Amino acid sequence: MRNHTDHGYDQLACRYHLIETLMFGSRLKEARTALLSSIPACRSALILGDGDGRLLEALLTTQPECQITSIDQSQKMLEIQQQRLSNHPRRNNVRWIQQDARRLEQFDHQFDLLVSAFFLDCFTRQEIEMNLQKWLNSLRPDGYFYFVDFQEPKTGWKRLRGKLYLAAMHSFFRCYTNLPNRKLVDLNGALDQCPLELVTSENVSHDLISARLYRMTSA
Ligand SMILES: C[S@@+](CC[C@H](N)C(=O)[O-])C[C@H]1O[C@@H](n2cnc3c(N)ncnc32)[C@H](O)[C@@H]1O
Repeated sequence: MRNHTDHGYDQLACRYHLIETLMFGSRLKEARTALLSSIPACRSALILGDGDGRLLEALLTTQPECQITSIDQSQKMLEIQQQRLSNHPRRNNVRWIQQDARRLEQFDHQFDLLVSAFFLDCFTRQEIEMNLQKWLNSLRPDGYFYFVDFQEPKTGWKRLRGKLYLAAMHSFFRCYTNLPNRKLVDLNGALDQCPLELVTSENVSHDLISARLYRMTSA
């Protein structure tokens, strides 16, 4: 089923990299790959909403034995991912699925690794409450969750700077993708409810972005 949201991402797809560079320079790239080398070797991974596939490409390099399933609701984003990897020697390690992740059914196997970069902030608080645990259930016990997303810096000029960036970003995505959020959803509160143990983390862009590697624990 198509809706205004995936249409919005289809429209953004070709310009996504340029817009990102104009707004954030290389900081999102830096954040996406910040902890890739800390992820242990995985045999299977599920990557949600990878957009134009730059993290997917990097993951293929750091995880050469990994079979990766990439899900995005935007057909255009998936096409760009496929073009990006068209000559990649490990292209056959990737399976692409166009799907709204909110409607994800259970897979017939569990993954070693779940990846979401600048994806959870595409959802409302209610959608996160309804879906985050379901997405994490795609992981095997002791599987890893690689999370990269925006956060509100806690104090001082970093907080002020962060608020300006986040306000600009929310206006942009509200306009293009019908995102109803006016501010960042409390992702930390939602993540704290989940059976996750933080393995390592790194802040990027004056604490505006957090990259974290979690491990699933028994609930
Ligand atoms: C803000 S972009 C982030 C892209 C990329 N992960 C990055 O690091 O820049 C959000 C991505 O998630 C996808 N997306 C948004 N909502 C989705 C949903 N409900 N199901 C699947 N993909 C979704 C969009 O199509 C887009 O590719």
